[in-house]
Amino acid sequence: MPDIVLDSISRTYGGSVKAVHDLTLTVPDGSFTTLLGPSGCGKTTTLRMIAGLDMPTSGTIYIGDQLAFSLERGRSLPPAKRNLGLVFQSYALWPHLTVAKNITFGLEVQRVDKIETARRLEEVATALQIDNLLSRYTSELSGGQQQRVAIARVLVMRPATLLLDEPLSNLDATLRMDMRVELKRLHKETGATIIYVTHDQLEALTMSTHIALMQSGELQQFAPPLEIYARPANKLAAEFLGNPRINLLDGVIASGCVVCEGLQLTLSPEIAVTEGEKITVGLRAEELRLHPTSSPSWAEAHVTTALPTGSDWYYHIKMNSKTLIVRQNDTPNLQPGDVVYVEAIPNTLKLFDSNGCALIVSSA
Ligand SMILES: Nc1ncnc2c1ncn2[C@@H]1O[C@H](COP(=O)(O)OP(=O)(O)O)[C@@H](O)[C@H]1O
Ligand SMILES: [Mg+2]
Repeated sequence: MPDIVLDSISRTYGGSVKAVHDLTLTVPDGSFTTLLGPSGCGKTTTLRMIAGLDMPTSGTIYIGDQLAFSLERGRSLPPAKRNLGLVFQSYALWPHLTVAKNITFGLEVQRVDKIETARRLEEVATALQIDNLLSRYTSELSGGQQQRVAIARVLVMRPATLLLDEPLSNLDATLRMDMRVELKRLHKETGATIIYVTHDQLEALTMSTHIALMQSGELQQFAPPLEIYARPANKLAAEFLGNPRINLLDGVIASGCVVCEGLQLTLSPEIAVTEGEKITVGLRAEELRLHPTSSPSWAEAHVTTALPTGSDWYYHIKMNSKTLIVRQNDTPNLQPGDVVYVEAIPNTLKLFDSNGCALIVSSA
């Protein structure tokens, strides 16, 4: 099936609440596309419009070759005709039916024959590792097992596209991690297009082939996860992806360099910036290094907090009045109060203009 295309869709509630505004997005066929953003940014509304459970106030939706929605052309394809499978955060399983019955119910409704039903049941149950639970009642399952049944129930219908709305949010941390691995494997094995909704940036980074980052109903950036991480389109995208949060520093352009709080970064000469221009520099925790001795392009700072995690050390350092977070994975063993010299080694230089938009640059 070809791509899912959202062309300038908006959804307004009660004339004033702009849940989604002018969203244009092509979900590539076979991709694992995540709608990511803070609560209330319009993710569920977008997913519901793709599913046909809600109607845009304007715009056009194509699902593959089919025109699924257009107000002007008087078209709104019913949900059942869109060949999509939906799993919502609150999935209702039937407690009085066995796992097997819960999964095959939809096939029975569609009058799929018994042999085919058994074959598909075995296939999804094996893929989701619930084949040993088929005769149990769903009320006897753990949260994670129930979650897998909910996904199996949808997958068994062989939808070309799977829509998942925060399906892991009521699982504990370990299970969430396991389910991420399973969902990613499932995506690979089935080749289905997955549209996944989450507010969890780590979930989005680890699973997706593409992320659509949203804020206040508007698309901020659409790109592969590591592309957004390395080259955020704006300050908002820079801050939303990555843990700990990216360090943002005020800087100024001076003779081919960016100078911020005593730190100096060299720019390659082809970069279109003006001498004296005020900009913001984004430096991730792993792009800073702490040294015991000084050097002209390094800035002096002192350690305020040391947070060892076992594999890494996170340091909060104070550079002039600014607190930065630094990640080190060797063993500097610094203590609060220690004086350090900060070197910036950006993988990709992230500079933002006064409107917060990224300046396209590369470091020298
Ligand atoms: N049925 C509705 N009536 C009025 N406002 C709504 C309705 N559904 C969602 N909204 C509003 O639209 C915005 C986006 O909501 P939603 O798509 O659920 O966000 P998300 O899933 O990203 O948390 C929010 O401000 C929400 O309050
Ligand atoms: Mg939601």
